[in-house]
Amino acid sequence: MKGVRETFGGLKNYSKSTMLTRIWERFWLGYNREGGFEGDEYLAEEIADLIRRMSIKTTVETGTGYGRTTARLAKMADKVYTVEKDVGKRRKIERRLGKLTNVKYFFGDSATVLRERILSGISPPVLFYLDAHQMGNIATLLNELQAISEFPEYKNSAIVIHDFYVPDKNFWHNGYRYEQIVDLLMKINPGHRYYYNTKASGAYRGVIFICPKEVLPESI
Ligand SMILES: C[S@@+](CC[C@H](N)C(=O)[O-])C[C@H]1O[C@@H](n2cnc3c(N)ncnc32)[C@H](O)[C@@H]1O
Repeated sequence: MKGVRETFGGLKNYSKSTMLTRIWERFWLGYNREGGFEGDEYLAEEIADLIRRMSIKTTVETGTGYGRTTARLAKMADKVYTVEKDVGKRRKIERRLGKLTNVKYFFGDSATVLRERILSGISPPVLFYLDAHQMGNIATLLNELQAISEFPEYKNSAIVIHDFYVPDKNFWHNGYRYEQIVDLLMKINPGHRYYYNTKASGAYRGVIFICPKEVLPESI
């Protein structure tokens, strides 16, 4: 029953098409996004592992959405900072995250908030979970990477980008490709390494993981 309650608990606030999408996801695709990471447990495991391998204490998420992934990140790291542009989500975000003492949420444009309110006040290394996306629009992602590149102390951080194109896989993506971000990654850390998810569940999205050479998984 718990899954049913999680899935339908907030449905009265949804439009008809969102409601149908949730029903489709839960009963046809068989996933539940309540645990964050769009229902992708492989992604949750990889992020937890990256946090362990790099002894990361702080995570920074862009695109809070309704705070589901934020709440999951709050169980993996000591502190989570998250930014959402859409103030219409404030009530739901506050309801989900308001009681979590290790989460700090901001409203505004991600790159601006990173630059002006987050990056000068926290300690590296950090895991960035970049998810403030709109289909086909890479500008927000490029602005976020530019903001990170302006703070050299984050050179050896991890950057995880959701909805990324993964070669030779049929994962869903927003059309973002490594070639489009490589110049900014070189500015952040010329020695960076990257790998993609090989398995997915839930929403079946492509993901790129960018990290320092020393913490690449052994299998890569
Ligand atoms: C894919 S959803 C995020 C999902 C959330 N991270 C999760 O896993 O549940 C993308 C979110 O990014 C937000 N967004 C889009 N552009 C943004 C920007 N420039 N700054 C901050 N948030 C932005 C959207 O309003 C939306 O809520």
